[in-house]
Amino acid sequence: MTSAEVRQSFLDFFRQRGHEIVPSAPVIPQDDPTLLFTNAGMNQFKDVFLCQGTRPYRRVADTQKCIRVSGKHNDLEEVGRDTYHHTFFEMLGNWSFGDYYKREAIGWAWELLTGVWGLPKRRLWATVHHTDEEASKLWREVTDIDPGHILRFGDKENFWEMGETGPCGPCSEIHIDLTAGGCDPEWVNAGRADVIELWNLVFIQYDRKADRVLAELPAKHVDTGMGMERVTAVLQSKPSNYDTDLFIPVLEAIAVITGRTYRDPYQVPMRVVADHLRALSFAIADGAIPSNEGRGYVLRRLLRRAARYGRQLGMEQPFLYQLVPTLAKVMGPSFPELVERGPHIQRVVHSEEESFGRTLSRGLELFEQVTGRLRGSSSRIFPGVEAFRLFDTFGFPADLTELMAREVGLEVEMKEFQALMEEQRRRSQLAGKLRLAEGETSEWQIIREGEHSLFTGYQSLRESARVCQVRRQGELFQVVLDRTPFYAESGGQVGDRGVLRFGDVQSAVLDTRKEGDGILHVVERLPDDLSCEVEALVEADLRLNTARHHTATHLLHAALHRVVGEHARQAGSLVAPDRLRFDFTHFEAVRPEELERIEAMVNEAVRGDLAVETEVTRYDEARAKGAMALFGEKYGDRVRMVTIGEFSRELCGGTHLRSTGQIGYFRIVSEGSVASGVRRIEALAGEASAALIRQEQRVLDDLRRVFPSTPIEKIPGQVQALLEDRKALERHLRKLQAEEAASGIGDLVQSAKELDGLKVVAARVEARDGEEMKSLGDALRAQLGRGVGVLGAVIGEKVSLIAVVTDDLVREKKLQAGRLVAEVAKMVGGGGGGRPHMALAGGKEADKLEEALAAVPRLVRNMLCS
Ligand code: SER
Repeated sequence: MTSAEVRQSFLDFFRQRGHEIVPSAPVIPQDDPTLLFTNAGMNQFKDVFLCQGTRPYRRVADTQKCIRVSGKHNDLEEVGRDTYHHTFFEMLGNWSFGDYYKREAIGWAWELLTGVWGLPKRRLWATVHHTDEEASKLWREVTDIDPGHILRFGDKENFWEMGETGPCGPCSEIHIDLTAGGCDPEWVNAGRADVIELWNLVFIQYDRKADRVLAELPAKHVDTGMGMERVTAVLQSKPSNYDTDLFIPVLEAIAVITGRTYRDPYQVPMRVVADHLRALSFAIADGAIPSNEGRGYVLRRLLRRAARYGRQLGMEQPFLYQLVPTLAKVMGPSFPELVERGPHIQRVVHSEEESFGRTLSRGLELFEQVTGRLRGSSSRIFPGVEAFRLFDTFGFPADLTELMAREVGLEVEMKEFQALMEEQRRRSQLAGKLRLAEGETSEWQIIREGEHSLFTGYQSLRESARVCQVRRQGELFQVVLDRTPFYAESGGQVGDRGVLRFGDVQSAVLDTRKEGDGILHVVERLPDDLSCEVEALVEADLRLNTARHHTATHLLHAALHRVVGEHARQAGSLVAPDRLRFDFTHFEAVRPEELERIEAMVNEAVRGDLAVETEVTRYDEARAKGAMALFGEKYGDRVRMVTIGEFSRELCGGTHLRSTGQIGYFRIVSEGSVASGVRRIEALAGEASAALIRQEQRVLDDLRRVFPSTPIEKIPGQVQALLEDRKALERHLRKLQAEEAASGIGDLVQSAKELDGLKVVAARVEARDGEEMKSLGDALRAQLGRGVGVLGAVIGEKVSLIAVVTDDLVREKKLQAGRLVAEVAKMVGGGGGGRPHMALAGGKEADKLEEALAAVPRLVRNMLCS
């Protein structure tokens, strides 16, 4: 059986049993701050389990792209060292949303594994939670498993949780015995490569709250997950996942590029490279980008680990990116995004490899030096300060250093490393902004049961509604209504603002957000009585201006495709009443002439006053009609398609104009880079672009007044010429001033006092800056012959002083300009010093300057006598 057949037969099996087959959600979760990456098939249904959302079906199956490199489910350490853990893997799963339960889940799993796929029953073992009598009984009742193969385990093995919080419940796992001579019960769950878990059947019945309390869910659900790579290896009778058709072509490509054979000592590095390539490619295809924080940093770490393993295969230059097409060939038939976004993935991976490649060798050298030093000592500890240096200077993630240290039997002093990181974080935090905490959230107070959050805002901006739930968050409240015209922030479009009228009490809606299916109105205050009718009024102007920017965003997206290419996909956006921001994947700056064409194309569509039409349809139909789906967006099977004339067709839930003419005028204001491979365009529409034009018009009018006889298009040239003239004049002026100053200095020297055969000059001069003071000082020293001088000037509000002593006096009399200037500066409330022959100082009290200069002869005399 090929892996494609394994996948298909799983889906067919469950389709025949009434399951809707849905697409995999992206590996980058939408709207779930508790997760960096999709780590299980059930993630996309979390809202259903928690009763916050619904689906039009109660039985679903799919194959889900999963990444397990962070948080509760993290398999990174195992990858490559064993043959069955991956950072990226596919999870085959079937679900019941309050429909069937343990009996069917267990029965079907057994039927598929043993009946359809023909796995030997004697090789299968079932585990159940030690308290789960029901599951244990069902295994005996609905299957013909050897009763001695039903084992009980505690929470660690048989209680599955999605993360620190969220849906969870007891589970029953199916393990397979791949040993040659038969399996001892002790070997199940013992971390052996020849007795491994294949399929996990979770009986979701609780919600783990932030305070660790388990809250019973109103309905019971089934959530199963089977490792696609593992089951393929078993069905193909391969000794490891890497020997299946999912990996072989990739390993072969690695062998060709590196010239190494998949054998010790290259086996582990090759596996790691193949594994990390998959995680990176899928994450980037779904819109993630390596960066310095959060999810992006996890990707950066993966890439750097892979690059360093590449060194063990002799690869000094970027090479991972070359493997992307092979991966796309293997996985593309099931996951076409790898093919569609292949060139983008390659560019992102390549540029990351290049940037790390620049410091990798030097980092490895430092690592060698440190381990070399340690070889001579008995210490097995790799100093935290060196790990920090590797991180800070050479970009080695801590876990990479740890891994490398472990390979040579060392342990990184992580406490010290963490302390240094913390120190650095504090330093940069002081420089940056502190995020405002949102305040604690209370439990929901239910005012009225039943359906809620019916969105009516596509048609109307006003609605009579009832309050369903309220809760407090910090100083504010969140209100859920039964029906509402308020659009909750999503897909980049900001939430609506407006008012809720509770009889006489009126409360401003500051923002509208989404949680599951719930639309949350954020308000400042609430009346005591919440049972009355509420009038919900959306601020129409804001909504209209937001719609202008939203429709304009679609036009911009379509125009970008036409001008720079299909690869320029949306990677993020902000649609607000006063502006839009659009991030997209593209590897170089958009050229000014391209920007002009894009802007012109959008405005052409605006003038065409194209109709904006929306239609709710099936996902596959919309895609067949060419609707653009967004990077990493999660879609149900019913989608809303927004069509703008012949110009653009996108899946989108946002609020739009009736026709493009309402945009008025579209104007791009900036284009720049946000991350490697991602560009950002900021643009304005409607009121905002008109305001910008007015502002620019005012500037032009002012310019016209300044250059009344110059045609407007010639003004920039004229300004340029003026600036050049000015530079030349300044140069000339400086020269004249220097000459004048030198002659002024000559006068000063002429009229200088003599003191014991040396000249003493103390005078106030005019100067514009320290530089000029220095040239005056130089001139004075040159003309003094044998003498001492102090010059003072008031520059701005401050005093600037310079003292000079001719060389002979420095030698003979040990006179020091530094000391002299310091004494003078003290008298004007300042300080300073410098070299013996010339020193600069400053002071704050300009009114004391004359007095201080008058004291110079006395100070010189004192210095001569001392
Ligand atoms: N959620 C469970 C797991 O990830 C079963 O799908 O193992």
